[in-house]
Amino acid sequence: MAEFDLVIRGGTVANTSDVFAADIGIAGGTIVALGRDLGPARNEIDASGRFVLPGGVDTHCHIEEPPVGDVHNADSFASATASAAAGGTTTVIPFCTQLKGGTVTANLRDYHRRAEQALIDYSFHMIISDPSEAVLAELPGLIEEGHRSLKIFLTYDNVALDDAQTLKVLALARRCGALVCVHAENHAAIAFLTEALERAGLTQPKYHAWAKPIAVEREACHRIISLAELVDTPVHIFHVSGVEPAEEIRRAQQRGLKVFAETCPQYLMLTERDLDKPGFEGAKFLCSPAPRSAADQEALWGYLRDGTLSVFSSDHAPNRFDDVHGKKVAGEGAPFAVVPNGVPGLETRLPILFSEGVVKGRIDLQTFVALSATNPARLFGLHPRKGTIAIGADADIAIWDPERKVRIRNADLHHQVDYTVYEDVEVTGWPEITLSRGEVVCWNGEIVGKPGFGRFLARDPYSQIEPLGRFVTPFDPVSGTLLRG
Ligand code: URP
Ligand code: ZN
Ligand code: ZN
Repeated sequence: MAEFDLVIRGGTVANTSDVFAADIGIAGGTIVALGRDLGPARNEIDASGRFVLPGGVDTHCHIEEPPVGDVHNADSFASATASAAAGGTTTVIPFCTQLKGGTVTANLRDYHRRAEQALIDYSFHMIISDPSEAVLAELPGLIEEGHRSLKIFLTYDNVALDDAQTLKVLALARRCGALVCVHAENHAAIAFLTEALERAGLTQPKYHAWAKPIAVEREACHRIISLAELVDTPVHIFHVSGVEPAEEIRRAQQRGLKVFAETCPQYLMLTERDLDKPGFEGAKFLCSPAPRSAADQEALWGYLRDGTLSVFSSDHAPNRFDDVHGKKVAGEGAPFAVVPNGVPGLETRLPILFSEGVVKGRIDLQTFVALSATNPARLFGLHPRKGTIAIGADADIAIWDPERKVRIRNADLHHQVDYTVYEDVEVTGWPEITLSRGEVVCWNGEIVGKPGFGRFLARDPYSQIEPLGRFVTPFDPVSGTLLRG
């Protein structure tokens, strides 16, 4: 009688704490045994010579967001999650958008319906672009349902919040037990610089980096950290691009504040020079914050090693290049300010971190697991169900060939974007087999998972979002309590 549905035999298992040789026994979609020479199973996978790692958790990716003007997301939940799985990721947290003037509830219902096509498990952040009284009144119930993270922008027309609105969202997050994630760039400064560049006729993609120098990111990081400190609530800062914002974050962490942060592959792999390609080609690399310098890239590895940046996400932005609903929405050669921001990257996130990080000796395998799976799962209330190989955890597993050499070609990727910024980049190490709750989703590059298998992950309150109980003055502005006379 088979005891297990599946045993993965003979691999090298890695968690954040240990790297060890073990078989993994799976039953009913969960890990039920870890050990040597496990008994019989209905199915077996030989993982000898392979790394057996927790499936990746990508906590920043844009999937099937509503059109902005004529700009359409190229990926559906089915294509995006297929692409994620092919790159070793088994959980995604994309964004349900609140449009200005609208409420969140209707969009959330629509987003849940769309996500039913996912191949892997998912949860949602709720983008708050207009914290009106109506929205602030509906959020407690939605957070209680398990949507325990809010995303705010400090820049971009139509979504940027001012400081007063930001404080309202931070206070609500503390009251209700949610984590606020932030796109931190100074909106007015970007508008000022953009107008000046446009007046001077400097509108090619390379000037995107001049409109968004690192000072606008540094300032906004400092500001959101200060505002979060005033209301005593944790914040998570998205897509940190270089030294100056990372130093703000490090200083806050050294002061004991709950400030978390991520970076993304594009900030390790691209520089400002990539925006300066012939013709309109630079638009492919146009993302916000802008790619920085080689020195920033190298420094980011240090912040990933020392934990200043504890999460590595893709910020997958599925805008096609040669498409009037993508990068060319305003035509080939349009000014940088009207080119949709972002680069695709769900599938290449982990192979790049593995190859550039583990294989090149910049991080060890345990740090790779921490950044790609365990830390994001912990930060967003999914651990220990996700992000670890442990008894009782979901059997979300990626089996890696650490020596396989792959030349990245967009034609081989599973997203619906018509380019990758990593075309022709050679990586060493690739996930061969990806399992979601014990079921194979991707086998040697072939998607065998089915749309609809993925499930929504409701998140309960968890320790990372608890306030510190530490205030700037003897008065708590959220509860209105005088703490001492
Ligand atoms: O350029 C970027 N990052 N685009 C995607 C949206 C965002 O700002 O995260
Ligand atoms: Zn952003
Ligand atoms: Zn983003």
